[in-house]
Amino acid sequence: MSHPILKIISNEGCNSYLIGCPVTRAAIIVDPKVGQEGQYAAMLERYGLELTAVVDSHTHADHLSASTAFAGAGVPLLMSHATQVKRKMRTLEHGEYLSVGELSFEVLEVPGHTPDSIALFGHGLVITGDSLFVGGLARADFVGSDAAQLYDSVQTRLMSLPGDTLVMPGHGYNDILFSTIDCERRLNAALTHADGAAYARDLDVTEGAGNSPGVEANLLLNLHEAPDLPSSAGPAVACCASPAGGDAAFDISEIAAVDAQKVHAALSNPEQWIDVRDPFEYNAGRIPGVTPIPLSELGFHLDRLKSDEPLYISCRSGVRSMTAAKTLQRLGVSTQPVNIGGGILGWQAMGNAIEGAPAT
Ligand SMILES: [Fe+2]
Repeated sequence: MSHPILKIISNEGCNSYLIGCPVTRAAIIVDPKVGQEGQYAAMLERYGLELTAVVDSHTHADHLSASTAFAGAGVPLLMSHATQVKRKMRTLEHGEYLSVGELSFEVLEVPGHTPDSIALFGHGLVITGDSLFVGGLARADFVGSDAAQLYDSVQTRLMSLPGDTLVMPGHGYNDILFSTIDCERRLNAALTHADGAAYARDLDVTEGAGNSPGVEANLLLNLHEAPDLPSSAGPAVACCASPAGGDAAFDISEIAAVDAQKVHAALSNPEQWIDVRDPFEYNAGRIPGVTPIPLSELGFHLDRLKSDEPLYISCRSGVRSMTAAKTLQRLGVSTQPVNIGGGILGWQAMGNAIEGAPAT
């Protein structure tokens, strides 16, 4: 079987994951967020997927879970057996396997950020929720948080996974979408302590100190059935990063469409230029000859992208391609990513041809 269908939906720093089986078309959404339901529905339809369950990786304090909306449509909620959430759900145990069509993900308990935190591991990736982030660890200053336990959970349950496992975090920082276990072993400064006790000493946070009124409001709604959830985001609360999060320094070249046209003419290998838009965008019109690799699925292609040669990356306007460039550079996959500023919009504005566009 090919790799899972994977869509990363980022909204205000929060990541939701749509994971689909390419054979049966069954799908789950991990950490669905209130206000994004329309986008999830559009993606499910676009990729021909049937939602069979939603998973909350833990009780969220910084945003509202959309699980109630899905429950109303008959889609079950799955959470750790350790949760205090009172919504109707099926609980998950450490070590059990969650089936998504012909896909299977191992449930890993990773308590610390919250007592009910879980990760899902399988098919070359681990959805870490709020435990391990790119370059940091989750906050450990909520009621029920335990910094030492968080550190030990991550070290024993996540950092022991195969080095090439893709790390898919619940929050994104520094414009990087994902990482690998190997990369976090090398670069994550939060993981350099002797043990959890040493980490907790250095972090020096008090349990419950982070429970602001906004956090309390989100928790109150997420812990109960909350039939009258607001249709937009909950109270604004800083996302769940550790104060130390972030390690990135980038050197991303950028060329505008006018120069990109010259590069395109000189390019001998089409795989040196990738288009990270979604397939439906690519099919509707593309720069001739470029190789499509959707941003969400970039991690499945790291081996073929590994190069010290320039790698040209484009999208619609230059934003997603910059995320791809930074992600690949931090991983060490591409030492010379080049962002195409302005993307295909800029390319077209310069009068360059595209292919595959519907006739007008
Ligand atoms: Fe969280």
